[in-house]
Amino acid sequence: MWILLLLVSIAAVSAEPLTFYGDKVFRVVPQTYEHVELLKSIAGLTKLDFWVPDSVTLLEEGKAADFRAAYDVAYDVQALIAQSGMPFEVMIDDVQKAIDNQLNSNVRSVHSYEQYNELENIYAWTANIAAQNPNLVTRSQIGTSFEGRPIYLLKVGKAGANKNAIFIDCGFHAREWITPAFCQWFVKEAVNSYGSDPEFTNLLNNLDFYVLPVLNVDGYVYTWTNDRMWRKTRSLNKNTPCVGTDPNRNFAAGWGTNGATSSPCSEVYCGTIPESESETRALGDFIRSNLPAIKSYLTIHSYSQMLLFPYSYTHKLANDYDELFTLAEGAVNALSSLYGTQYTYGPGGKTIYLSSGGSDDWAYDTGVKYSFTFELRDTGKYGFILPESEIVETCEETMLAVKYIANHVLNNA
Ligand code: ARG
Ligand code: ZN
Repeated sequence: MWILLLLVSIAAVSAEPLTFYGDKVFRVVPQTYEHVELLKSIAGLTKLDFWVPDSVTLLEEGKAADFRAAYDVAYDVQALIAQSGMPFEVMIDDVQKAIDNQLNSNVRSVHSYEQYNELENIYAWTANIAAQNPNLVTRSQIGTSFEGRPIYLLKVGKAGANKNAIFIDCGFHAREWITPAFCQWFVKEAVNSYGSDPEFTNLLNNLDFYVLPVLNVDGYVYTWTNDRMWRKTRSLNKNTPCVGTDPNRNFAAGWGTNGATSSPCSEVYCGTIPESESETRALGDFIRSNLPAIKSYLTIHSYSQMLLFPYSYTHKLANDYDELFTLAEGAVNALSSLYGTQYTYGPGGKTIYLSSGGSDDWAYDTGVKYSFTFELRDTGKYGFILPESEIVETCEETMLAVKYIANHVLNNA
């Protein structure tokens, strides 16, 4: 009886997600070496959850950084920063309040393009949209996650011989919820536009789009059940309680060097070997076996409003730098034409920071020329906790950039 009660209470506790009452997100702009060192030393004393850049190790003088500090240290952290003379702002005053407000309502319908959907609902949606559009959408499973969940891929396009393809993935990092929402939106737009919108119809007649709605399925589930702020995969690491690998540090592109660490407790842990994760391995295998049809690789992240292209692991310029730069510029202009949303763009290493092991760089070096990372809305007001009320606009504007790139691929690849 007591054992039963104990088990029930353990189950109840572990089913309760973490809360973030009183946690704050700060934006700081370290001006000097001392400022950077101060932030590093604070991060050494208490866990700071870096939102931008992805890790304290990536801090640079003169570059803004956003991080979450827990409620019980937020006040002291703020005092230390203020005392140092470092410019700072409180971006989010109470992270839990932002989380409570991100959902339009607590009524979760089965599936909605205007809401964040739980993984089970996304799974059901992949089956349904394929069943309802047999001439346009096919579902396949490209792998299985560490915890045993299927990783589904939708192939979107009209059947035809020798078609080139564009690969789009979402949900690399678990807490970037706007990204799976975009992949779902893209497929909806494709099926709704086919036959009525000449531009999209042309794209679907002449290209295939491989859309992977959630790569890091275990992490995504974990953000719904346990920790909204989870980033990495959920694989167990040897000799440490720390869980997970950063899937975007896990590819063979300068693997294990700049902007990544071999420490499993870090948010930018690169894993034991390239593609050590079953999720990244599934992605890598699929792209390798569908070369050379895949001409473009688009990986969707958030947040910062940036369009990045190789390289991120090195400052060397890509061979196709000029073409990629011009293409990024055009895509960003198309995006901003709708609601005026401003994006910055350029090679990752220069535009955000050097970081190795990314899928974009790997895809490029593997022969996929048109390789881009999107960092969707916003620029930090809500960060990862972007309210559902911004899903529609974010997806609509992003569609314009993706279609711009797709047209270029169609005409040039
Ligand atoms: N915020 C993304 C990340 O750190 C940016 C990725 C840019 N590309 C790269 N290869 N690091 O994962
Ligand atoms: Zn990301």
